Amino acid sequence: MSFDHRKYVAFKPVAKTDRRWPDKVIEKAPTWCAVDLRDGNQALVKPMSIAQKQRMFDLLVKLGFKEIEIGFPAASQPDFDFCRKLIEENRVPDDVKIQVLTQARPELIERTYEALKGAKRAIVHVYNSTSTVQREQVFGLDRAGIREIAVNGATLVRDIAARHPETEWTFQYSPESFTGTELDFAAEVIDSVTGVWRPDLGQPVIINLPATVEMATPNVFADQIEWICDRIQRREHLSISVHTHNDRGCGVAAAELAVMAGADRVEGTLMGNGERTGNMDLVTMAMNLYSQGIDPTLDLSGMAEITEVVEACTEISTHPRHPYAGELVFTAFSGSHQDAIRKCLSRRQEGDAWNVAYLPIDPFDVGRRYEEVVRINSQSGKGGVAYVLERDYNISLPRWLQIEFSKVVQREAETNGGEIDSLTIHRLFEDRYLKVPEDWALRSYDLHRDENGVRAEVSVGAVNGSIALEGYGLGAVEAVSDALKHRFGISIAVEAYDEFALGEGTNANALACIRLTANGQHCSAAALAEDTTSATLQALLSAVAQVAGAELPARSLEGQEVSA
Ligand code: KIV
Ligand code: ZN
Repeated sequence: MSFDHRKYVAFKPVAKTDRRWPDKVIEKAPTWCAVDLRDGNQALVKPMSIAQKQRMFDLLVKLGFKEIEIGFPAASQPDFDFCRKLIEENRVPDDVKIQVLTQARPELIERTYEALKGAKRAIVHVYNSTSTVQREQVFGLDRAGIREIAVNGATLVRDIAARHPETEWTFQYSPESFTGTELDFAAEVIDSVTGVWRPDLGQPVIINLPATVEMATPNVFADQIEWICDRIQRREHLSISVHTHNDRGCGVAAAELAVMAGADRVEGTLMGNGERTGNMDLVTMAMNLYSQGIDPTLDLSGMAEITEVVEACTEISTHPRHPYAGELVFTAFSGSHQDAIRKCLSRRQEGDAWNVAYLPIDPFDVGRRYEEVVRINSQSGKGGVAYVLERDYNISLPRWLQIEFSKVVQREAETNGGEIDSLTIHRLFEDRYLKVPEDWALRSYDLHRDENGVRAEVSVGAVNGSIALEGYGLGAVEAVSDALKHRFGISIAVEAYDEFALGEGTNANALACIRLTANGQHCSAAALAEDTTSATLQALLSAVAQVAGAELPARSLEGQEVSA
């Protein structure tokens, strides 16, 4: 029995009776900090090259990040070199702060400041581990020993910064493995650190609370954040930041609830690359805000570029179902979804608030095309097929024909087993409904109306072998049906017919669709023509041809005039 849940102990919830965060609503975006170049980079099989780092940095700047953690320069020479490059080549915009991480160890802090020499603005991010398991099993230190590491680190950070007043410094402290730390102890360490840094006297300070490992449901993390915000000293002078990982798959949810619980700032990575199951996904969280009508303060409209750069820098491909960014996230294959989307999109007026079933945001906003929304496979239904014909070929089908044709498409999809593209759908429509056997081509028609109805004279057949037909009826269809009955003995009962004027951009001006029985057999056809009467009469002839055969019935020609 190796799969044994009894090996694990449930995380103890926070004993809290003054919980307020569940009633809070996020009304503005937090301050974002992208840690792709540090936490994200540390998790890669192949860490980023300098060129890849530069590409990622430039993207982050372009998206609007004002705080970017660029590395761990004291622990990695490439990170050190990249930091120097950014500073020496003046590549950091004036409104962007670069952030670097260091452990709270004197030699590492010294080296970190070397890396930052000459920076205009920088965040020095110092951390040490505070959790019970790390204290007891990794460091073998008690609470006082761990607190001392933090205080000594904070003191050195403060003192070295004071020697470099040319840089605008922000100090950041992380009680690493915060989620596994007793809350009273976390507060004690934080108070000790801010007692050194004195944000209340004007020093900008960030206290970053990491879910280094996500250990419980997001509500527990929110309780932890609210608890800390309520208890720590100098709260109003601090920026409280959260840094969630995704071990339980709730990194974004935990960060969102943490913001409701009082966090001002959120660290994460684009698309969530990071240690183990990843960091909090900045794209998802920012887009979640966007979808609620909140300015995310980041420009994520070029989602294709974002995924391209992230993939190129991390060498990790984007999951097709990745929220907002995946190839398939705005695509509906299911018939009922397609139908609902088609109806909502067609009702939508310019300027309306977005309210489209199955699409939480307008795909267009992130650079996606409506063409991708409805894709057809064997799961799709009439709505989707009709939508594709309308969208790509300006062909609107009546409901009865949508139902009929979707079965044709479904059969094809079942046979080929995959997706049916728009071109194939059109070809299937042409083959099944629009094909006109030469013998049944309408060459010309003449309608004479009087008080009794219509007399139709039509010419049908190949250019050099058409025949003339004549019939009577209340309308054109009835008159031509009458002609076919007398000439070929085919009795026709029309069950449904519809005609549509076509929009601009097509050669034909009209589409007609007809369903009938000819000699008791069901058939249906459609036709495109310059005018609605031609389209209707051709659809009638094409439908009859399906029952009578591609060639005109032999007896029809006996004794008849055939024009050359
Ligand atoms: O996950 C974590 O705890 C970290 C810290 C160093 C902030 O990445
Ligand atoms: Zn982390």
